[in-house]
Amino acid sequence: MRVVTTYVLVTGANSGLGFTTCCRLIDEFLDTRPGHESITLILTTRDSRKGDSTVSRLQKRADKLPKSKRQDGTTRVSYKSEIVALDSLLSVKRLSKKLLAELPKLDVVILNAGCGGWTGVDYWMATQQSMKGFVQSVTWPAFKLANIGVVTKPQLPNTSTQGTTNTALGEVFCINVFGHYLLSHNLAPLLSKAHHPSGNRGRIIWLSSIETEAVIDAFSIDDIQGLASPTPYEISKRLGDVLALTSSLPATKPWVDSFLLAPKSVPTPSGEEGIPTTESKPGMYVTHPGICSTDILPVHWILNLFKLLTFYIARWLGSPWHTIDAYKGACAPVWVALSPQAQLDSIEAKEGPGKWGSSTDIWGNERVRRTEVGGWGWGGIVGEEVQRGGRISGAKALTREAREEFEVLGRECWRRMEGLREEWEERLDGLD
Ligand SMILES: NC(=O)c1ccc[n+]([C@@H]2O[C@H](COP(=O)([O-])OP(=O)(O)OC[C@H]3O[C@@H](n4cnc5c(N)ncnc54)[C@H](OP(=O)(O)O)[C@@H]3O)[C@@H](O)[C@H]2O)c1
Repeated sequence: MRVVTTYVLVTGANSGLGFTTCCRLIDEFLDTRPGHESITLILTTRDSRKGDSTVSRLQKRADKLPKSKRQDGTTRVSYKSEIVALDSLLSVKRLSKKLLAELPKLDVVILNAGCGGWTGVDYWMATQQSMKGFVQSVTWPAFKLANIGVVTKPQLPNTSTQGTTNTALGEVFCINVFGHYLLSHNLAPLLSKAHHPSGNRGRIIWLSSIETEAVIDAFSIDDIQGLASPTPYEISKRLGDVLALTSSLPATKPWVDSFLLAPKSVPTPSGEEGIPTTESKPGMYVTHPGICSTDILPVHWILNLFKLLTFYIARWLGSPWHTIDAYKGACAPVWVALSPQAQLDSIEAKEGPGKWGSSTDIWGNERVRRTEVGGWGWGGIVGEEVQRGGRISGAKALTREAREEFEVLGRECWRRMEGLREEWEERLDGLD
């Protein structure tokens, strides 16, 4: 029988959710796919030391799999370690070029790498917020502190001809959204070649956050980089939600099509261009891991223990979103990555495109759960059933007006992101 290989790229694979996503991809792939199928994980990290250590940790872990799976793990799983710094568009361009030249196709891209941009915690505000509502305060915290207006290093090498165009981008925006956006655009020709006997199409999967619900009113279309905002992280994740959830609407089609067009700046080896057909068009999905204990918000180890305790208390008090363990947090992105296309399509046809979250019950048993998004509800369907639990206080059932505004917002976000992409591609033209 012909070997079928699934190629999955995971950014930020060396730590936290990136690493557990790789572990879970391997486990679930070996559990669910037949023996003639294999998986190649393309792991991106910021340097080769981190990349080598990630591959070696994954291999050691595979050696400890139950005997029945160990043999499978060594023959059916392979790794390709790559380097990218998402705050550098030139680094994104270099990786794109390399992958376009080396890979035959790409089935899934999991846009996991991320940066919080936080500088600390306002403990006084944290105490006040938790006294008003403990579970709400540890699910949608309003006490994380971030500097306003932090930008990346200049994107272009300083040459006299580029002088005034050598501007920078919002740092959190560039790492969490724009670097990934450009990478996905550049890799669209490989994603369009994704093919699987079961009809799976290419998938671009954003890693969002439950916390976006706290900033829906603070999100401004005139500041999509969050440069004027004290919550640039949450703004960046809200942008990812809006882009993904509106990506299949007719209103965004012109920009989504141009996004999925083979890139001019990074020519494909065969030089092909053109909008993918419906059968080959990659889908865009948004997921989130719930709330996990990782290093994304670095705190002293004693405070870390305290944080962990508050997470468990929140879960025992009924929070579905405190997945805590990053392996459990990886359940939603891995489910979206490996589910049969027919299953995803039929759910979306019935319930609308949704934000897929990792959640647990009080005992810590994980499952994938749709998540409410301000202005979109659970699936963008006015009159849909309002689900109980796991909602931010003050959440409202979806109205026709809110749904229409969300669509307008989506179109505007897509238009501006495509504008920004074209602007930067021009600036990067001829640079390697
Ligand atoms: N933890 C949670 O509860 C939670 C909740 C919601 C969403 N998320 C999302 O989950 C994703 C993973 O977060 P995590 O919690 O696993 O945090 P983490 O352990 O800090 O991992 C972040 C990853 O992103 C990489 N990264 C950071 N800046 C980068 C850059 N400029 N270029 C390339 N890679 C970069 C890091 O690489 P280095 O190791 O080299 O820094 C690391 O691999 C993020 O998108 C985050 O927003 C997490």
